[in-house]
Amino acid sequence: MKILICYFSGTGNTKRVVDKYVEVFKNKGCEVDTFRVENQNFEYNIEDYDKIGLAYPIHAFNAPSIIFDFIKKLPKLKEEKPLFIIKTSGEPLRLNNISSIKPMSILKKKNFKLTNEYHYCMPYNIIFRHTDSMAYKMWETAKKLIPIDAQEILDGTEVKLKKFPLGRPLAFVFRIEHWGGRFNGKRYKVKDSCVHCNACVNICPTHNITVENGEFHFGKNCIMCMRCAFLCQKNAIKIGLFEKWKVNGPYTFQKPDKEEENKHKKYCKKSYQKYFKRAEEKIKNAQKISAEEKDFSEEFEENSVVTAKNQ
Ligand SMILES: Cc1cc2nc3c(=O)[nH]c(=O)nc-3n(C[C@H](O)[C@H](O)[C@H](O)COP(=O)(O)O)c2cc1C
Repeated sequence: MKILICYFSGTGNTKRVVDKYVEVFKNKGCEVDTFRVENQNFEYNIEDYDKIGLAYPIHAFNAPSIIFDFIKKLPKLKEEKPLFIIKTSGEPLRLNNISSIKPMSILKKKNFKLTNEYHYCMPYNIIFRHTDSMAYKMWETAKKLIPIDAQEILDGTEVKLKKFPLGRPLAFVFRIEHWGGRFNGKRYKVKDSCVHCNACVNICPTHNITVENGEFHFGKNCIMCMRCAFLCQKNAIKIGLFEKWKVNGPYTFQKPDKEEENKHKKYCKKSYQKYFKRAEEKIKNAQKISAEEKDFSEEFEENSVVTAKNQ
């Protein structure tokens, strides 16, 4: 089976998830290509693939604007093509499910058929920094879910996320973030602690940061992905109106040696509990099925040997 996954990842969470999918699909014998939508040249012929994946981080309960720009440019297909969506976001609220409504209404007209949709909780890159143990738990959970979810995609078992009441108008309202990002992006500033390594200039997915005579300029194409501020080694980028929500420095996704204080332990508590409980149930169920299948095939093999000996 040939699979193409097109994705955007601002600060690495979605890429991490996509990389795991690629590993799993390849181990199952699939041919997999990936395309980072920030790269300009989309050289793939979608008609050549059996299934297409679209992956993105949720931005204000929507797909990031760069994903919209990408899917709008996709060609209309001659025949219907199965599509799976992979999303990551910091909290597991069901409201996040509305993020695929608008992208799907564009893609449906181009003959893409949504068959599977998965949402993985990954640590925040804005609002607040998740504790290392939470980041570790999120990633460990995603790592166990992905092989099960990937198998569903390959088996053709359709899985969709639950709808949210008034999802379409709500998603429309929250898409103010696309415009707000551009407005706020022009208000980014660089602090004196900047060492002019120019990493931000080089990694910005929309090439929105330029330097002239040692002065940084932030243009009007910011998509609020947070990559520049999150990865700045000197934490020298001020993100305009959202400075208080800034998160700086990559997560290690390692289990910390000692438990740190969780200042946000009440935040969306029930929602996280539900997410991890559902994930645990899905993982246990899949383990049970695979143990039963193993027992069955061992029994089948033993019986075949006995029958062969008796003949
Ligand atoms: C501008 C912006 C808006 C976000 N909005 C949401 C949101 O509505 N819901 C949510 O759970 N997480 C939200 N997040 C958090 C990201 O979705 C989350 O950290 C994601 O895993 C980041 O993925 P990436 O590293 O691939 O960019 C937002 C992040 C950014 C930068």
